[in-house]
Amino acid sequence: MGRVAYVNGRFVRHADAAVHIEDRGFQFADGVYEVWAVFDGRLADSAGHFARLRRSLGELRIAVPMSDAALKIVLAETLRRNRIRDGLVYLQVNRGVASRDHAFPDPPVPPSVVITAKSVDLAAGEARAARGVGVVSLAENRWGRCDIKTVGLLPNVLAKQAAREAGAAEAWFVDDLGLVTEGASSNAWIVDAEGVLRTRDVQANILRGVTRNSILGLVAELGLRLDERPFTLDEVRSAREAFITGAGSLVLPVVRIDGVGIGDGQPGPVAKRLRGLYISEAQRSAA
Ligand code: PDD
Repeated sequence: MGRVAYVNGRFVRHADAAVHIEDRGFQFADGVYEVWAVFDGRLADSAGHFARLRRSLGELRIAVPMSDAALKIVLAETLRRNRIRDGLVYLQVNRGVASRDHAFPDPPVPPSVVITAKSVDLAAGEARAARGVGVVSLAENRWGRCDIKTVGLLPNVLAKQAAREAGAAEAWFVDDLGLVTEGASSNAWIVDAEGVLRTRDVQANILRGVTRNSILGLVAELGLRLDERPFTLDEVRSAREAFITGAGSLVLPVVRIDGVGIGDGQPGPVAKRLRGLYISEAQRSAA
């Protein structure tokens, strides 16, 4: 059997999977999502993503479609039916299908739930990490609630495309004060000129990355010097190293910004060490 998707209670052939034209995810981006990395058929950082999903749904007052336990079973079944060993699983929950009206449907309708999964080539990911990637900087132009993992991602889409057209892998948004907020689909980190790990604090308008949080745990265990404080582009250019974190990128060394090399232009030791530790810990604790 080929690829399969879960759509509103049914497993269907991926090629035939569809939502209604009045689905509010389609019409208004009125929904939220999560992405889990998958190792050996199990979810990495499982609990953190479930907790954030709950929070995103709560902030948008979208009904919780099913218990975490039930959702875990459906996610696992999606992975099984797609024969995913290592990969990614995507979940979208949105406000459901209703005649087009900006305000919430009244009475409420059941939320829509879509799950897809795909395999990822771990060896290719390692090769990419060994080379490092470039990022481009762009003016921050997103809304004020980037802590909610909403499917409204147009600025992120445009930023990622700009990165791709510049031969880079990620875009870093820069706020009005000249400080990096985060990537289009990842959190941003540097090891600054003094050797201190820096990443923006989550009181700012950024996503509370689940991978970021796990990395903070590793950083504390290793006793590395850390300052949760935003950094400027000048600080990136003078940094010893840089990297991004996220369910898709895991920990990925950044070796160039806007075409200029960072540090010695090679993946740095801190990023490489954190990547290795993160992946082995995520593999060990995947559930
Ligand atoms: N993106 N910041 C943004 C804007 C993101 O979209 C993501 C994740 C992250 C990292 O979060 P986490 O560590 O919880 O994955 C930070 C996912 C992978 C995506 O959009 O595909």
